[in-house]
Parts: sequence; structure tokens; C-alpha cells
Amino acid sequence: MSVKTQESQFAKDVHLGLTSTPKTLSSKYFYDQAGDKLFQSIMAMPEYYLTDCEFEIFNTQAEDILNEIAPNRRPFNLIELGAGDGSKTRVLLRHFLKSGVDFTYCPVDISAHILEELESALKDEMPDLQVELLAGDYFELLNERIGKFEGRNVFLFLGSTLGNYNEVKAQEFLSKLRAGMRPEDQLLMGVDLKKDPSVILRAYNDSHGITKEFNINLLRRINQELGADFDERFWKHCPNYDPQSGEARSYLVSTKPQKVYIEATDRSYSFEAWEEVHTEISKKYSLSQLERLGQESGFKVIKHFLDCKHYFVDTLWRPV
Ligand SMILES: C[S@@+](CC[C@H](N)C(=O)[O-])C[C@H]1O[C@@H](n2cnc3c(N)ncnc32)[C@H](O)[C@@H]1O
Repeated sequence: MSVKTQESQFAKDVHLGLTSTPKTLSSKYFYDQAGDKLFQSIMAMPEYYLTDCEFEIFNTQAEDILNEIAPNRRPFNLIELGAGDGSKTRVLLRHFLKSGVDFTYCPVDISAHILEELESALKDEMPDLQVELLAGDYFELLNERIGKFEGRNVFLFLGSTLGNYNEVKAQEFLSKLRAGMRPEDQLLMGVDLKKDPSVILRAYNDSHGITKEFNINLLRRINQELGADFDERFWKHCPNYDPQSGEARSYLVSTKPQKVYIEATDRSYSFEAWEEVHTEISKKYSLSQLERLGQESGFKVIKHFLDCKHYFVDTLWRPV
């Protein structure tokens, strides 16, 4: 997809989100260069336990994971959807390289900037690693490129990115992915589990305001790329967590009645005082809910890899 098409898709999605009821902005647009940096800061926060948990799983169970995904050390393509900076994946990559298994790492991300950063880190750290970078939307790339790869594919979908979809959308995502998989392919997915709600809420509402900056940065991006005049002084970051749905939701709330003009759509959008714009969902699952989701999307669980607190799971699935 060309940069121009991506821009106009961004404008279309923002227009659609701000004219729908209730108003929304898609979380996939968080990740411009500043958003990538902010997300890296979030991952480094002590409150954002998800990163530490997934690091622990990979640091302590990489050999078990390899034994499941490459029995008899069969070669494979390791395709990471939404790879980001690949910081946790590098633990697996180092272990797989050391074991001598034949694989190609294919990180996919919509942020070309974060992929460049990942590429240069991999060249420095693991010059022998075979890498094929794929910049763009993972669904488009699944159809256009990944479906044509030769050999067995092992998909990674880490960091609880599945949680950015509600349950209906998660099933749609998994069913689409399942449709592009061959019988011998596998999926290793990092999923955040239900736990003490106060632990969860702190991860999306830290005391240093990094999660707030991440949310507000979406308005800055719309200002910069689409020529809008959002005034961030009149927007508040409001996260909440509902233990029943397992959804941590982030909102931007307008603190006064206001109109915002967006040059790219040539339209003004009105906001009432205290009207919310939904920006992100981070859904948490119980293991049984996750297993049901797998069944309903055409997968069978091979094995769960859990951290010691049972806060997080990397779950390995195969298509049925
Ligand atoms: C929550 S971050 C997780 C990053 C990484 N997997 C980790 O665990 O640290 C989500 C990543 O997915 C990417 N992303 C979001 N939507 C995407 C899409 N539709 N296609 C490709 N990449 C996407 C973002 O750019 C971002 O780097």
C-alpha cells in the first residue's frame, strides 16, 4: 500500500469513527514514530506487567516452545504479526539460532519506522538470522504475500495484541488467520489473563502519565498528518476496567463543548462537554474463555505456556 493510500485510509477511518455513535478512533493509528516510542516506554513501566510476564515465559520456556513448534527440528517461517520492536521475540530468536534450527523470521508491522528499528537491531545482534521484513497491514499481507510462502508457517501474535479486539472481532481475526493457514501451521499467541482488577487498571493508568501521553498522541497525529486542530488541553485520558467483560477500555473525553476541524476530510466535528471518544480496548481472558474462542475459530490448543503468577499465557494452537 502506498503512503498516499495509507494517509487517505487514515482520513477515512478517522471520519468514520468521529461520525459514528458512540465516537471511536482505531487503536491501530497509535503507532506513529512518537507512538512507537511511547509504547516502548509503556512496556518498560513496572505497572505494565504484561511485558515482564512474557519475557519470563520466553526466558524460562524457550526450549519447550521450540520442541513444540519444530519437532525433529523441521524448518519453518516464523511470521510475527504486529511485531513492534520485537524485544521479547529476540529472546526466542536467540535461542532458536543457538539450537541450529533452520528458520526465517518475518516480522510484519503497519509501522515502517518500528520495522526499520527492528531490522537494524537484528543486524547488530544476530547477523546470521534470515529475516524478511513485511511492512503493512497484516490482513492485506496475509492475502498478498504470506499465503504464498513456501514451507511451514508458525505465526506469532504476542504482547496481548489480540486483546485490542473485542470478542466478536477477535473471533473474526482468528477465523481469517485460520483460513490462511495450512494444516501443519501453528499459532503462538500471547494473551493477558483475568486477575486482580486493580493490577489491570494500573497498567493503563500509570502514575507518570505515560499511558495518558500515548492516548493523547493519537490527537497529535491527527493534527500533524490530517491537518486537524485538536487542542489537547481540552481532552482527558480516561481508562476503566470491567471485570465481567474483561475489557480495559481507554477513552479521550472532551472537557468542554468544542468543534474540531480536519483539513483532510474538510469537515468539522462537534463534541459535547464530557463526551467520550473510545480509543482502545485491551481484553483479558480466562483460560477457559480462551480455549472456547480457539474452538469457535477453528483451532485446537496444543499447550499453554504460563508465567509463575499465572498473569499471562503464550498459548500454542493448531488449525483443526
Ligand atoms: C500492542 S503492540 C505489540 C507489539 C509486539 N507484538 C509486542 O508484543 O511488544 C501492537 C503492534 O501491532 C502493530 N499493528 C497494529 N495493527 C496492525 C495491523 N493491522 N497490521 C500490522 N501491524 C499492526 C502496531 O504497529 C504495533 O507495533
